[in-house]
Amino acid sequence: MKKNILIVGACGQIGTELTFSLREKHGNEAIIASDIREGNEDLMNSGPFELLDAMDYNALEEIVAYHEIDTIYLMAAMLSATAERFPMRAWNLNMDSLFNVLKLGKEKKVSKIFWPSSIAVFGPSTPRENTPQHTIMEPSTVYGISKQSGERWCEYYHKNYQVDVRSIRYPGLISWKTMPGGGTTDYAVEIYHKALADGTYTCFLKEDTELPMMFMHDAIRATMELMESDAENIKIRSSYNLAGMSFTPAEIAATIKNHIPEFKIDYAPDSRQAIADSWPYSIDDTEAQQHWGWKAAFNLEKTTEKMLENLKK
Ligand code: SER
Repeated sequence: MKKNILIVGACGQIGTELTFSLREKHGNEAIIASDIREGNEDLMNSGPFELLDAMDYNALEEIVAYHEIDTIYLMAAMLSATAERFPMRAWNLNMDSLFNVLKLGKEKKVSKIFWPSSIAVFGPSTPRENTPQHTIMEPSTVYGISKQSGERWCEYYHKNYQVDVRSIRYPGLISWKTMPGGGTTDYAVEIYHKALADGTYTCFLKEDTELPMMFMHDAIRATMELMESDAENIKIRSSYNLAGMSFTPAEIAATIKNHIPEFKIDYAPDSRQAIADSWPYSIDDTEAQQHWGWKAAFNLEKTTEKMLENLKK
C-alpha cells in the first residue's frame, strides 16, 4: 500500500516547518520534500528532496509514482503583495499547481490532498469583525481571487470526483525558522528580526491596521489535525476559517517593548496597506472547532516570547 507524503513548496515559510513536523511524526524517509529551488541546510539534510516545478504535471506525476505517494500537501503559491506585481504569473502558478494536484486526486493516483487557502478570499464588502465561514466573498486582490476560485474547485472535485481534498484559510503566519516572502502580513515576522538586530522597525502598514494572525506552531498543528481527522468530520470541502489572534502593528510593538524596552517603531505605509484594508480584522472559526475539534493555543504575548527566544539563538 502507498503511504508516503509529498510536500510541494517544501522550502517556503509553511512548507519548511510542515516538512519537519511530518518527518518527526512519520519518519524522515516517508516525507518527500520538493520545491523549485533547494531549501536551507537543515531541511535539505533531514530527508529526501526533489526539485519540482509545481506547474509541470508530468514531473509531478512521475515523482508521485516513483516515491509511492499517497498524500500531497501543495504549499507552492505566489502571495498577495508579489501577485499584485505579477498578476498573470500568480494566477497561472496558483491555479495550474492546484489543477495538477486535483487531477492526481481525480485519477486516484493520490488519495488525500491538502491545499491552503487564506483570509485573502475575503474582500472589502465582507463583514470584517468575526468574519463568518459563509459570508460575502468579493476578493479584490489577484491572490484572493486565485484562492477563492481554488476553494470553489476543491469543493467541485470533492463533490463530483470524490477527491479527498482538505483546506484551511490561514491567517497571517508568524514563524522564526523560515522567512515569509511577498505577503502583506510579513511585517509581523520582520518586526521581530529588526527589533533584535536594530532595535527599530519601519512598518509598511499603519499602526492601527488590525489583521488575523497565527503562530506557526498552531498553524502546523491545525493542518495535521485536519488531515488526520476522519473524512466524515470534514463537512466543508472549500476551506475552513481558522482563528488564532488578531492585533495591530502598535499592539505587536507593545509586546516587543515588554522584552526590549528601547525598541522603536515608526510607520511608512506602502501599497500593501490597500491589501490589508480589504481583509477582515478577525475570524470566526466555529465550524473548525465543531467539525474537527480545532482550538488555538498561542496568543500575542506567547508568540512574542517564543519569537524573541528562538531568534536570539
Ligand atoms: N499571509 C498571506 C499574505 O499576506 C495571506 O494569506 O499574502
